[in-house]
Order: sequence, then structure tokens, then C-alpha cells
Amino acid sequence: MRAMAIEEFGGSEKLKPMDLPVPEITDHEVLIAVKAAGVNPVDWKVRDGLLRERLPHAFPLIPGWDVAGVVERVGSKVKRFAAGDDVYAYARKPVVQGGAYAEFIALPLENVARKPKTLSFEEAATIPLSGLTAYQALFDRARLRSGDVALIHAAAGGVGGFAVQLAKTRGAVVLGTAGSRNHDYLRSLGVDEPIDYTQGDFCEAVRKTHPEGVDVVLDTLGGDTLVRSASLLKKKGRIVSLIDPEGIARLKAGGVKAHYLFVSPNARELTKIAEIIEKGLLRTTLAATFPLADAAKAQVMSATHHVRGKIVLII
Ligand SMILES: NC(=O)c1ccc[n+]([C@@H]2O[C@H](COP(=O)([O-])OP(=O)(O)OC[C@H]3O[C@@H](n4cnc5c(N)ncnc54)[C@H](OP(=O)(O)O)[C@@H]3O)[C@@H](O)[C@H]2O)c1
Repeated sequence: MRAMAIEEFGGSEKLKPMDLPVPEITDHEVLIAVKAAGVNPVDWKVRDGLLRERLPHAFPLIPGWDVAGVVERVGSKVKRFAAGDDVYAYARKPVVQGGAYAEFIALPLENVARKPKTLSFEEAATIPLSGLTAYQALFDRARLRSGDVALIHAAAGGVGGFAVQLAKTRGAVVLGTAGSRNHDYLRSLGVDEPIDYTQGDFCEAVRKTHPEGVDVVLDTLGGDTLVRSASLLKKKGRIVSLIDPEGIARLKAGGVKAHYLFVSPNARELTKIAEIIEKGLLRTTLAATFPLADAAKAQVMSATHHVRGKIVLII
């Protein structure tokens, strides 16, 4: 099968077209013919070797943890899906190797859910990783409730855009950070108060309208942003970071309700997200699509840190 893969860690030039075998499936796995693969910051972090201490990797390594496609074949114990079903999945597996930048991907059943009917394959491939991250951060970790005030960093990004919309489905008041060129976009997603992080201290902007502080923070930046954001929390406030486990450990030691999240595959939650999408309560923004062969260009775009919405490879 056609794939884009790396033989060793390094820059975007390491990502090369390869002809690799179609993966085998076990009894509990599903083989998916990939139609579209989402591109996420973790893809170029994997390529650079930044996760090598944390997860086992094997080469040749096909990146890509976001997939939408059609079931080609199922293992003998799989009852939930059949060949021809349209599915989407968060494709992280215990060993980082067989990703979505390819014509086929083999995935355990627990990673896979039915594709939202209202989305194209390109749109559906933008959802699993970022949508699950937003869902698990706000709902599973922070236990966001109606009326809570939530501060969402990088609200114009992949995770932030879904987090804003999910927070609104729970009836939260949403403050979101982005450069001013993205503020109309933020409002269109449901942000009540856009904050321009490039113009002064975002904490001052938050305190101006919410002197009592906020109930929940979603941190996508870590370091100083994490520490300053924690200072905005009300007494029972919760902060979730996607990026800074050490910072979270320090906050916890100081008594803050702080959580580090590394998003987990979860087919049940992906199904719930599909229902929210089909009700028209969650939409996606396609920043750019690239053919599979241009995966390196797509990763370079992702690494600018200023994408609005999501990038997708068409297979
Ligand atoms: N732990 C996990 O499980 C997990 C899961 C998903 C993502 N992540 C990580 O979380 C981070 C965000 O992921 P993502 O997919 O949302 O990234 P992304 O889509 O690349 O984020 C891009 C957005 O970040 C905004 N931004 C850049 N610098 C900012 C700043 N200082 N303050 C506020 N906004 C800023 C940009 O808005 P402007 O152009 O307006 O600046 C842009 O819209 C990445 O590092 C990713 O690897 C971790």
C-alpha cells in the first residue's frame, strides 16, 4: 500500500513515500481503508522523536493518529462493524508505528466508532484526536458544569475550537485566547469573551470581567501560561493541561485541582461526539487539505502554531 513514513527521527524531510504491506489484523481488530487522515501537532512531535521516552516506536513508522474511512475487513471476534461501514477513529496504539498516513490502517475495536453521518470523510478525520481531547479535558477531568466560567487557551486551534463548542453545550460561559485576527472566528464558535493574548496580560483581561476568577481552565501552552492561568482559579476551580505534566505536578503539590491529560482512545466517547455533531452542536473548520504525498508540507504548516481549525490529508 501507499504510505508516507519515516525510517528515523528528524525533520520533515524524513517523511518519504513508501510502499509497505497492508497491515494484518487480529481477531479484535478492524482494517480500515483510509479516506482521510487528520494532521495534528503530535505527528511532527513523533517525527522529531519527542515522544520516544514515553512510548515505544518502531520503524518504518507511519505517523497519523486521526482517521476516517471505510471498514475493509474485520477480525473474527468483531461484531460491531462489517465491511463497508463508514468509521472514524483515534488511532493511537501501544506501539507507535502503523498510523493513518496510508491507504490502510489496522485498529483495535476500542479505537473505532461510526463516522458522524453529517460529515464528509475529510471533515470526520479532523475530529477524533482533538474532539476526544476537548471532551476528556472538560467533561472527564474538569467536570465542567452549567454556569461555570471556562478559560480556553488557543481557542482558534484544533483542540480549542472543539473545546469552546463542547463547553457551550454544557451551558458554560466561555473566555478564549487568540490573536485579534481570530476573534470573529472565536465568536462564531460561541466564545463569549475573546481575549487577545498578544496585547498585554490575559489575566488582567480575565479579571476585568470576572474579578472572582474562573471555574475551569484548559491549558494548551504550559509553563508560564499554566502558572498564570492557575492564579485565576476560584477556590474550587480546576485546571487541565495538555502539555505540561511537571507544571501540573507542582500545582497539585500546592493544593490546586490540576490534571495533566494524555488523550486516550475511547469509542464510546467518539460515538457521543458523533451524536453532538449530528445534532448540529459541533462543527469543524478545515484549514487546509493536502494529498498524502504532501504530508511533509502539512506537518510544516501544523508546526507554525497558528493554524485556524484543522489540517487533513486526502488519501
Ligand atoms: N496531551 C494530549 O493528549 C494532547 C492532545 C491534543 C493536543 N495536545 C497539544 O496541545 C497543543 C494544542 O494542540 P492543537 O491541536 O489545538 O494545536 P493547534 O491547532 O496547532 O493550535 C493552533 C492555535 O494556537 C493558537 N496559539 C498559538 N500561540 C498561542 C498563545 N500563546 N496563546 C493562545 N493561543 C495561541 C493559534 O491562534 P493565533 O494564531 O490566534 O495565535 C492557533 O489557532 C499542542 O501542543 C498539542 O500537541 C496534547
